[in-house]
Amino acid sequence: MSEQHEVLLRRMQPDDLQAVHDLEQQLFPEDAWPLAGFESELAQRDTRTYWVYEDAGRVVGYAGLCVVLPIADVQTIALHPDYQGRGLGRKLLSLLVQTAGEKNALDVMLEVRFDNPTAIGLYESFGFTTIHRRKGYYKGGVDALIMRLPLDAQHGQEEERNA
Ligand SMILES: CC(C)(COP(=O)(O)OP(=O)(O)OC[C@H]1O[C@@H](n2cnc3c(N)ncnc32)[C@H](O)[C@@H]1OP(=O)(O)O)[C@@H](O)C(=O)NCCC(=O)NCCS
Repeated sequence: MSEQHEVLLRRMQPDDLQAVHDLEQQLFPEDAWPLAGFESELAQRDTRTYWVYEDAGRVVGYAGLCVVLPIADVQTIALHPDYQGRGLGRKLLSLLVQTAGEKNALDVMLEVRFDNPTAIGLYESFGFTTIHRRKGYYKGGVDALIMRLPLDAQHGQEEERNA
């Protein structure tokens, strides 16, 4: 890991998929997407946008957004453990929300495990609120929170801050 320089944020390419999948298995041992899932996502260029963080040639994080108007969905967001807690997740989520707005989505939606306070804290700090709790949604019977960020509210908050 490097504390000395910024990691590179760029669009995900097909060549990244094996590294992304390896990281996915490390970070989500119970719920990892199969490699074919990522391949399918990346192939849907009209609705999906995926990014990776790269450091010294190694994929250290990734995120994806699906926009089917009027809804944008955060498909995934994840960082290698060595790169967590450094503000990179916040930067990545900002990019997802910004992209959703640029594509004219009205709401950004996501699902998160109920037992993931770090991710929930990040989402709440952006203004996401829980609109549903799906009982036993994940393997092992863990509940999912369905969270929503109305982009009008987001723009309103930004305007207030800039006033
Ligand atoms: C969730 C994740 C993407 C957050 O990214 P990150 O780079 O670690 O987070 P950041 O350093 O950008 O911190 C962003 C915010 O998260 C929240 N946060 C961070 N650590 C937290 C903790 N231990 N408890 C509660 N909230 C926390 C805070 O709101 C923090 O903002 P602040 O630093 O201004 O207080 C990252 O930790 C990760 O990849 N975790 C494993 C995979 C995962 O759970 N993905 C989400 C699936 S829904």
